[in-house]
Amino acid sequence: MVDVIQVTNPATGERVAEVNIQSDEEIKEAINRGHHAFQTWSKIDAHERSRLIRAWSAKVQEHKEELAKLMTLENGKPLNEARGEIDYSTDYLDWYAEEAKRIYGRTIPANTGTKRIIVTKEPIGLVAAITPWNFPTAMMARKAAPALAAGCTFIVKPASETPLSGMKFIDYAHEVGIPKDVIQYVMGQGKAVGEIFTESEFVRKITFTGSTAVGKQLIKNSSDKIQHVTMELGGHAPLIVAEDADVEMAAQQTIATKFRNAGQTCVCANRILVHENVLEEFTEKFVAEVKKLEVGNGLEEGVDIGPIINEKGYNKIVSQIEDAISKGAEVLVGSQFQSDMEKGYFFVYPTVLKNVTTEMMIMHEETFGPVAPIISFKTIEEAVELANGTPYGLAAYFFTNDYRVGHYLHEHLKFGIIGWNDGGPSAAHAPFGGMKASGLGREGGIEGIEPYLETKYLSIGGL
Ligand code: SIN
Repeated sequence: MVDVIQVTNPATGERVAEVNIQSDEEIKEAINRGHHAFQTWSKIDAHERSRLIRAWSAKVQEHKEELAKLMTLENGKPLNEARGEIDYSTDYLDWYAEEAKRIYGRTIPANTGTKRIIVTKEPIGLVAAITPWNFPTAMMARKAAPALAAGCTFIVKPASETPLSGMKFIDYAHEVGIPKDVIQYVMGQGKAVGEIFTESEFVRKITFTGSTAVGKQLIKNSSDKIQHVTMELGGHAPLIVAEDADVEMAAQQTIATKFRNAGQTCVCANRILVHENVLEEFTEKFVAEVKKLEVGNGLEEGVDIGPIINEKGYNKIVSQIEDAISKGAEVLVGSQFQSDMEKGYFFVYPTVLKNVTTEMMIMHEETFGPVAPIISFKTIEEAVELANGTPYGLAAYFFTNDYRVGHYLHEHLKFGIIGWNDGGPSAAHAPFGGMKASGLGREGGIEGIEPYLETKYLSIGGL
């Protein structure tokens, strides 16, 4: 009997599709094919690789609407967000199609006239990726595009909750002529596939987006074969509203960062830190905006907040809200739920909590849901201490119009991505990634192709 993964619509619990799970042997064969394909793909000139990645991007855009609908069906995010994710995905394809042509080496002046020193870059080999359900195509694109641009081959295990849009995304690569063995997907249980990837002598790099716990395990396992790793792990983003901030703008931008994908992103603001002198004004404006958000099936027009991906995610959010309330938090809006365990759908209405303290779980654990806890501070130093008081270091946001406060916060916040008066800093042309428990390496920008390249140094003597 063939094992299958059931893909369901998280807004209704209805079955969308069944996807076959491959056997360990089949996955190992796919790795072998990827390894052999590297011998030819890495020799194709960069301009041709670039052309193929650009053609892939155009093909995805041709099918944008159908791909976005498929994504909403399996992930639940509102259709407009899904369309935005397709654009975000092709931004990575377009950016790295260009970067393929800019993989430069260098020459170094030698300390004797009889020598010449040349540094060149080479693709590292077959790359294995494990991608998450919250951005089924964008996280794939930001790993696959630099890998292919660099001359690497690529194999990915998409998330079991949302494999369909990622698989379709890769089918489009094949349709434009990128060879089947150059970019492949495999389906299986995450742990088992991760072990096959890390045990393989042919896999030269593991790239993963997901939880810190799984990331740590992959790093440990990858040490045996000394594989390169890029890890984009958990976050617990602070958002600071300083005394002099444009409060209207801060409230609007907080909506953008907090409620994107129903709060299910690694960079969603998880703690809202507001100066005591603007606490009332900010809270009032923010709550008024939150009340406008429509909750429902992402396929319906006008919906802003879709379902939570599964029961595990839902239970975590509910327990954080209950814990906060039991410790004295006041609910300003939300704390409403709509779920059906039998059918398998789970909604959390956007929730704002006041009188939050550092004793509450929500101040330490990643929420991955539409809950905004507000805590006040008196000095900017106190805000920094609160903000940095987490093992994570992915994204942070602050709102101030005072350049000295902005400069101070930029220098003191220990996070890889910082939005200053900006709730949406993610972009294909900028380096995305975190410090501390949030991971290793960067994706996007010129930094994002380096991890797919080896540096080779040639010293020519006797001249
Ligand atoms: C993530 O949540 O992992 C990615 C979010 C982004 O790229 O903005």
